[in-house]
Amino acid sequence: MTSTNDIRRTFLDYFKSNGHEVVASSPLVPINDPTLMFTNAGMVPFKNVFTGAETREYSIATSSQKCVRAGGKHNDLDNVGFTARHHTFFEMLGNFSFGDYFKEEAISHAWNLITKEYGLNTDKLCVTVYHDDDVAFDLWKKIAGLPDEKIIRIATSDNFWSMGETGPCGPCSEIFYDHGDHIWGGPPGTPEEDGDRFVEIWNLVFMQYEQISKDVRENLPKPSIDTGMGLERIAAVMQGTHDNYEIDTFRRLIEASVEVTGAKETDENKSSHRVIADHLRATSFLIADGVLPSNEGRGYVLRRIMRRAMRHAHILGAKDLVMHQLTPALVSEMGQAFPELVRAQALITETLKLEEARFRSMLANGLKLLDDEVSKLADNQALPGDVAFKLYDTYGFPLDLTEDALRSQKRAVDVDGFNASMDEQRAKARAAWSGSGDKGTEKLWFDLADQFGATEFVGYTSEAAEGQILAIVKDGASVETAEVGDEISIILNQTPFYGESGGQMGDTGTFTTDTVSVHVSDTTKMVGKLHVHVANVKEGSVAVGDTVQATIDDERRSRLKANHSATHVLHEVLRRELGEHVTQKGSLVAPERLRFDISQPKPVSADELKRVEIEVNRLIRDNGRVQTRLLSYDDAIEAGAMALFGEKYGDEVRVVSMGSEFDTTDRDHYSVELCGGTHVEQLGEIGLFTIVSESGVSAGVRRIEALTGAAALEHFHNQQAMLLEAAGAAKAAPDALAGKVASLLNDRKSLEKQLAEAKKKAALGGGASEGPAAKEVNGIKFLGQVLDGVSPKDLRGMADDAKKALGSGVVAFVGVNDGKAGLLIGVTDDLTDKISAVDLVRAGAAAVGGKGGGGRPDMAQAGGPDGSKAADAIAAIEAAITA
Ligand code: ALA
Repeated sequence: MTSTNDIRRTFLDYFKSNGHEVVASSPLVPINDPTLMFTNAGMVPFKNVFTGAETREYSIATSSQKCVRAGGKHNDLDNVGFTARHHTFFEMLGNFSFGDYFKEEAISHAWNLITKEYGLNTDKLCVTVYHDDDVAFDLWKKIAGLPDEKIIRIATSDNFWSMGETGPCGPCSEIFYDHGDHIWGGPPGTPEEDGDRFVEIWNLVFMQYEQISKDVRENLPKPSIDTGMGLERIAAVMQGTHDNYEIDTFRRLIEASVEVTGAKETDENKSSHRVIADHLRATSFLIADGVLPSNEGRGYVLRRIMRRAMRHAHILGAKDLVMHQLTPALVSEMGQAFPELVRAQALITETLKLEEARFRSMLANGLKLLDDEVSKLADNQALPGDVAFKLYDTYGFPLDLTEDALRSQKRAVDVDGFNASMDEQRAKARAAWSGSGDKGTEKLWFDLADQFGATEFVGYTSEAAEGQILAIVKDGASVETAEVGDEISIILNQTPFYGESGGQMGDTGTFTTDTVSVHVSDTTKMVGKLHVHVANVKEGSVAVGDTVQATIDDERRSRLKANHSATHVLHEVLRRELGEHVTQKGSLVAPERLRFDISQPKPVSADELKRVEIEVNRLIRDNGRVQTRLLSYDDAIEAGAMALFGEKYGDEVRVVSMGSEFDTTDRDHYSVELCGGTHVEQLGEIGLFTIVSESGVSAGVRRIEALTGAAALEHFHNQQAMLLEAAGAAKAAPDALAGKVASLLNDRKSLEKQLAEAKKKAALGGGASEGPAAKEVNGIKFLGQVLDGVSPKDLRGMADDAKKALGSGVVAFVGVNDGKAGLLIGVTDDLTDKISAVDLVRAGAAAVGGKGGGGRPDMAQAGGPDGSKAADAIAAIEAAITA
């Protein structure tokens, strides 16, 4: 038997050897297409190459693309488990030509591959063409030698393929395999075509058009080829079954389900095992591609798929939680072809386990409520909408799960009533919201949030994505278009732009199309769920409904990520170094630095800061992984997560763990925090960490500012440059600089001392032996002198000395420093009855523009702004003695 893995390999090898580029499967979240919920066909990642908006280095390619059909145009969820071929997740093998070859080579390759490489019996094959496609008809005749009756013309949309409401499209030709007359069914185009006998295995789409809107269809730049062969279907054919769930991959998953649930594979149980096997694949691959269960958008579709599987596990009577126990089987079956499954295995296991535990706790009560309510209804009466809503709201039953549960009774649900209850609840939530207080604009954001739901944030994994403009806000009002120069706010249905929250600043970047360029200077988050891009139109004009390429400034984001992850590490290191009393009091994650406020009663010492810095850098070098999980708030706290200051938390929270544990605590990670921000994948990406300041903010709160990566390095370079400059100026080697500066300061001190002595001596007449040069004024010895450069504090000592030397008399010194005058008057005790130093100093101060002055009769001081009048002050003092 040829294994599914071999069939995939043969396909890719065949096209590779025929010159095709082998392209790895793109993620299930189509970042290049805002109109799609999930990648639903092999051509989706190439959509823009077909339309000419994007060029690649190759013009022919092949891939095995992961696809999910569980929402939007191609939605198979309700049928899964009950038919032979419906899946939520499947792989599509395809070959693509972007304006290179067209119908002839496409048909020739397809025929070659299935008849020669796969060795299918040509008698079992027939094909369809679009009813007016004579070219394709003739080619099938020529290349495959098929008789006319095996080339069936089909006029319906079955032979015209389109990706979605818009996008590339064209007529197609399908290859069918006849599983034999032991199975009911007829060839395509017959009334029995829906049977399982004739199965479409390969669809060749002759891509010719682009559907622009409902009524507008344009030609593609060049005719192209898109083909799609469901891997599970061709595997079924090659493994001799018409039922996809009988192929090797599904058998292993179903066997695992039988083992884990303990429920045999009876007719009754068959569908439930199939649902579990199929949904295990869809949920695991979605989680691996970054989708986590939530109550909005893609996350909600994931939750619906998960819970549908979990209900079937319950139907099978499983006692234990089932889904997470099946991941090893899936990873061993598909992990080699899709390494992302291996990388995400822990996350998948944990997410499934928590979701199932939570759902199980509500399931029994929910089903009881459902039974009670149904017993009150007449036959054929639909389940009232408010009951379905209660099941949704209180017991976590998505609407389609309730519908699924009532399917066997052929009972419907009142969907309108369900929606009405939902609207009512929204209105209540809105009334309860305590927002920023600006009611006028808040109403607008609320209306937009009600209309469009939460913005899908794809920026955890992507730096660029296409988004569709849902709303443009200008001057506080919704508008349809915006022109060059307009300052506006834009809401997209999905965006890679992080909206400012949790201390992390919003992203900046651009929105572009061929003709438009919009600069996004900031992104904020409104009413908790809308990412609002603050934008300025630079070129062209934008309108609601337009699709734009949204690209963040990834250099800036890298720095934000490094600073955010460093903040988490710093937080935990501080707690371990300083004590558990340290909690976060505020945080700012900017691209150029991080700021972190903590509760801490006293300054963090230089020694402590150094230890913290060393420890943070050790963790960076250790290069531990950063992991994100989505947990219920309570589970997260139980797992040791620290809640962020001032954040609002919903039912579910993102838990960011980083670093491995080295010490004695029993945690798996060094740091665990609740956080919606963006982070590095490995701590090594932070590069380097340094604290640049520590200061007080308010009583008991200290602030630490730090740098990472290139900014930290630049900081060190600046410091080094300053050191070299200082060493150069001091004429010392850098390592001798400290000694040199200390000795210079010492020298300076002793020189200052010597200088002061010298000045004193000079002031008092040169040498102490000669004594001061006093004169007689009114019979009193008077020594009046202007002393340049002598400071007021030195004057007092000098005056005391001069008084002693005079024996009896008056001393008046005016020191001049920096252009200002300092006056000091000394009167010997025998004269204080007649002369007051205070009076004299006032007279002198007036001369230098000073006011007042004070002291005692024997010693008084004053100052004045005008040192140039110092001699006048002496004269004024002398005059005052005479008076
Ligand atoms: N895009 C085509 C399909 O999905 C091949 O069937």
